Amino acid sequence: MTTADDPFLAVPEGARHRALAELSAKGPVHRMRLATGADAWVVTGHAEAKAVLTDPRVVRSGASHMPFGDEMPPELLRALSFNLLTTDPPDHTRLRRLVSAAFTRRRVEGLTPRIEAICADLLDGLEARLAADGEADLITAFAGPLPITVICELLGVPAASHADVRAWAGPLLAGRFAGYEAFSHAAEEIVELVRGLAAEKRRAPADDLLSALVTVDGDRLSEDELTSMVYLLLIAGHETTVNLIANGVNVLFAHPDQLALLRAEPERLPAAVEEILRFDSPTQVTIPAITAEPVEVAGQLIPAGENVVVALLAVNRDPSRFDEAGVFDVGREVAGHLAFGHGIHHCLGAPLARLEARIALGGLLERFGDLEPADGTLERLPSLLINRLAVLPVRRAVPA
Ligand code: HEM
Repeated sequence: MTTADDPFLAVPEGARHRALAELSAKGPVHRMRLATGADAWVVTGHAEAKAVLTDPRVVRSGASHMPFGDEMPPELLRALSFNLLTTDPPDHTRLRRLVSAAFTRRRVEGLTPRIEAICADLLDGLEARLAADGEADLITAFAGPLPITVICELLGVPAASHADVRAWAGPLLAGRFAGYEAFSHAAEEIVELVRGLAAEKRRAPADDLLSALVTVDGDRLSEDELTSMVYLLLIAGHETTVNLIANGVNVLFAHPDQLALLRAEPERLPAAVEEILRFDSPTQVTIPAITAEPVEVAGQLIPAGENVVVALLAVNRDPSRFDEAGVFDVGREVAGHLAFGHGIHHCLGAPLARLEARIALGGLLERFGDLEPADGTLERLPSLLINRLAVLPVRRAVPA
């Protein structure tokens, strides 16, 4: 298999879905070599994915999957690797309890006015750019800055550092594809930022999540747990949502009938966001887990000590779970997609991601009744984790 038809790395628009559909047609679980060089069992069946993600014998693996784990200074590796995604109970339960209250649907709904205000500012900027240049990259101008501003404000990262965090997210998510220098530089910078902010907030706590984490009574985080937690929240908390918004606009452009329906009936937006999550999931795979003992999946015995990942793009188009799985339909009853994962690692930020996407897509459709794709070839960025367009050029339609 070459990169051109790799189900996780293929760059041409649509190629990953095609490769995954071929793979899924052969069965729900496959042994293959991932782009990281590691061999893994890749689960493409929906029911099998749910089984694996709730099986206590399939455990997370600490730092072992961190890109450049063998080359990075151990102290830096530790500062990133003790997070929710890489731990199992009881550590996972303790860490998740510390942050779960900040991300409940009710708490998150309270952010609505602020997210609307950020969105309105960005739409003003987009309008100005379209007027000046005729076209703009929707990701740079809109889908990118919205989630980074929201998660940074929630954590208490000052505005002066938002662009840096956004820039570091690229190499941190690209992992091996970024190269060691870029990856380790971004890792060092983000850890230094978090340590500096934590020290400041210990001295003078503010009304933000980082202050709450450093001043928590009793169940304190170790220094490595604190940096790992904030690193995860900053990175998982924005790049994924960027892709939800951008993939959403892209898929609506590709389905003008569905776009017209949504414009005519904006109350369909929450269902449309779920369908976008299902149809072109922002995250491609769950973090690699390891079988602590032999596990049988769909009649296939996976020995102990093997890597297991769930291919989210595939399970969300599993024809045995979703009727006409390859059809994009904003009117579909779409409960049950696994775009936010499943089990104890189910996405902590799902309510926030949904709220941001509704506000962003709703605001965009309301303000720009005439937005359309500009010329250019659409391509996906190579990354094992993320299903992200490189750029999404847009323009305003010329009136007929
Ligand atoms: C559309 C946007 C998002 C998508 C598609 C998404 C997807 C996911 C997925 C698939 C997982 C599980 C991964 C696994 O099992 O290995 C996950 C976990 C997680 N997500 Fe999200 N996410 C999104 C937005 C956010 C946001 C806004 C936050 C901000 C707080 C966030 C924070 C987390 C955290 C902390 C975890 C780890 C939970 C745990 O292990 O207990 N995510 N996300």
